[in-house]
Amino acid sequence: MEAMSYAARMRRKADALMRRGAATVLAVESSCDETAIAVVENGRIERSNAIASQIDVHALYGGVVPEIASRMHVEALDPLLDVALQEAGLTLEAIDAVAVTHGPGLVGALLTGVSWAKGLAYAADKPLVAVNHIEGHVSANYVAHPSLEPPFVCLVASGGHSHIVSVERYGQYRLLGGTTDDAAGEAFDKVARVPGIPYPGGPLLDKLAEEGDDAAYAFPHPHTQGKYDFSFSGLKTAVINQAHRLRQQGQPIVAKDWAASFRRCVVDLLVDKTLAAALDAGAKRVAVAGGVAANSLLRRELARRGEAAGLEVYIPPKRLCTDNAVMIGAAGFYRLMSGELAELDCNALPALRMFEE
Ligand code: KG4
Ligand code: ZN
Repeated sequence: MEAMSYAARMRRKADALMRRGAATVLAVESSCDETAIAVVENGRIERSNAIASQIDVHALYGGVVPEIASRMHVEALDPLLDVALQEAGLTLEAIDAVAVTHGPGLVGALLTGVSWAKGLAYAADKPLVAVNHIEGHVSANYVAHPSLEPPFVCLVASGGHSHIVSVERYGQYRLLGGTTDDAAGEAFDKVARVPGIPYPGGPLLDKLAEEGDDAAYAFPHPHTQGKYDFSFSGLKTAVINQAHRLRQQGQPIVAKDWAASFRRCVVDLLVDKTLAAALDAGAKRVAVAGGVAANSLLRRELARRGEAAGLEVYIPPKRLCTDNAVMIGAAGFYRLMSGELAELDCNALPALRMFEE
């Protein structure tokens, strides 16, 4: 009898998992500067969350160096697998499927994770699922809030993306609005450099802002065509020009006030537009995701104003907002349950989209 192919065997295994409605997923994330492997049960329960951050190395260069990121992912993946399995108290045998981020992100960084996950899935004879990184961020909410189910509206704000998404069902999204240029995290990182806040700008600016006066500097609210769109490039330019003007006038820039004023401006924009989009869409629940969702003021304001507007507000813990593999395991579970397996020719897709923009 001819041996069954890997693809056919995996289809059978996936069908059995779908009938069972349950699966323990080992997830791999390497799209940017964090290497992460996690074990997630049924898309909801975090069994382990192993992360190797490269921030200290990239900080030496003032930003992510793609070649260094790829090399460090390659070195980190094998040891992280041991940590993730050990923390979960499981052997590889007990894993039902492997999920991996295949885009969007840095091509070389993605490729290390995709190749490694394919090798693991094939060698261990497990089905492979390819996950969109942004969908991963949204899905962090499923682990953080076990009772949360679609439909809901989610603000996804990270270093590379800023979208307001309507989550209609698991795996089905509609774009309500988003940035027309730079991402919110990118704006935080660039504006942080003005008063000399080092990389990574976003979290350090957030910390400094806690002690600053957010009315010290007035920054413009840029106009956008779409009602729920943002433009952070215009804001960033206006803010940097203002810094030049102040310096020419011999006025020092007070870093904590600068940080607080800029943070207030970005958070007001994000919260205004997200709540408007959610209310106009008739949503009852609003969630947030992505690295910028770790911002203290955004978390406070979204909770306060969202609840005042009669919405249920869902905010994941900070460690599930910034890049991690738990969120990939959650998204991977729902992909697996809809029978979407990746083939062994699955590739890194640096510009992968989640919906038509
Ligand atoms: O989701 P993430 O970890 O990686 C991407 O997918 O991009 O997001 C990283 C971004 C960076 O721009 C970082 O500065 C920003 O999230 N970020 C923050 C905070 N923590 C991370 N921005 C503002 N306040 C924070 N506390
Ligand atoms: Zn991310």
